[in-house]
Amino acid sequence: MTKTSDDAAPAERATKRSGKKKAKAARPAKIPNAVYEAELFRLQAELVKLQLWAQATGARVVVIFEGRDAAGKGGTIKRITEYLSPRVARIAALPTPTERERTQWYYQRYIEHLPAAGEIVLFDRSWYNRAGVERVMGFCTPQEYAQFMRQTPIFEQMLVEDGILLRKYWFSVSDDEQLKRFRSRLGDPVRQWKLSPMDLESINRWEDYSRAKDEMLVHTDVPASPWYIVESDIKKHARLNMISHLLSTIPYTDVPHAKVELPERPAASNGYVR
Ligand code: ADP
Ligand code: AMP
Ligand code: MLT
Repeated sequence: MTKTSDDAAPAERATKRSGKKKAKAARPAKIPNAVYEAELFRLQAELVKLQLWAQATGARVVVIFEGRDAAGKGGTIKRITEYLSPRVARIAALPTPTERERTQWYYQRYIEHLPAAGEIVLFDRSWYNRAGVERVMGFCTPQEYAQFMRQTPIFEQMLVEDGILLRKYWFSVSDDEQLKRFRSRLGDPVRQWKLSPMDLESINRWEDYSRAKDEMLVHTDVPASPWYIVESDIKKHARLNMISHLLSTIPYTDVPHAKVELPERPAASNGYVR
C-alpha cells in the first residue's frame, strides 16, 4: 500500500470520538485557490490525453474509489469526468443489491460494468462493499466475508492478467472532518441527498469501520493490485494527489487528435434564422 503523496497529514487515527482530547496533527497549508484551479485544469487536460490514448490503443481502465462516507470520492470522480466523453469514461455507482442480485455470484453485478476496449470505468464504491459496509452492518455472513477476502485477490488477478489496468484508491478522512462534512450536508439543499441512514450509523461504528479497513488491506493489498491511500481531509489536495497519481501509473502517450476543418456555410443558407 502506498500513499499518493508525502505532504499529506499522518495516517488516519482510530481514536474514540468521545475519548480524551487528542493531539491535533498539524495540517499542511491549504493550496491557494488559483493554484488549485490551474493545476486541476492541467491534470484534466492530461486526462483528455489519457482518454484519446485509451481510444487509440483499446486500453481498458478500472479505477476503484473506496473510503468512508464523505471522504470525497464523489467530488473527485466529478473532477475526473468533467471534460471526458461519457462514452469513454463511465461511472459505476451500484445501488443496494436487489433480491435477485443477492442470489447471484457476488461479483456478477460488478462484472457487467467492466470496460470494453477504449473505456474507463470509475467505480464509486465497488465489490469492496463486502469488506466494509456489509461486514460492519452484518449484511453478509461471516462465511461470505471470509470467502470474499480469500477470493478477491484471485478475482482481481484474473482482471489484471486479462490486461485490464486496475487501480484501487482508499480515501482516508479523519473522524472530525467526516463529522464536519455530515453537519454541513444537513442544511445544504443540494447535498442533503448524500446523507443516508447508513452514513449516520457509520458515526457510531467508526472503530468497526477502522478494523474492517485494516483487515481489507491485510488481505487485498497485493502486488498485482495494490491499494493507494489518499489523505482526504483537505479535498483540494486529495483531488490533485489522486488524479496526478492515477496519471502517473498509466503509460499513456500523446495521441494527436485528427484535425477538424469547419466547412464554409453555403451562401444560400446565409440569413436564415433556423
Ligand atoms: P453512499 O455512501 O454510497 O452514498 P449509503 O451510505 O447509503 O450510500 O450506503 C453505503 C453502501 O452500503 C452502498 O454501497 C449501499 O449499496 C450499501 N448497502 C446499503 N444497504 C445494504 C444492504 N442491505 N446490503 C448490502 N449493501 C448495502
Ligand atoms: P462483534 O464484535 O461480533 O459483537 O461485532 C460488533 C460489530 O463489529 C458488528 O457490527 C460486527 O459486524 C463488527 N465487527 C466485528 N469484528 C469485526 C472486524 N474484524 N472488522 C470489522 N467489523 C467487525
Ligand atoms: C464521498 O464524499 O466520499 C461521497 O460523496 C460518498 C458519500 O459520502 O456520500
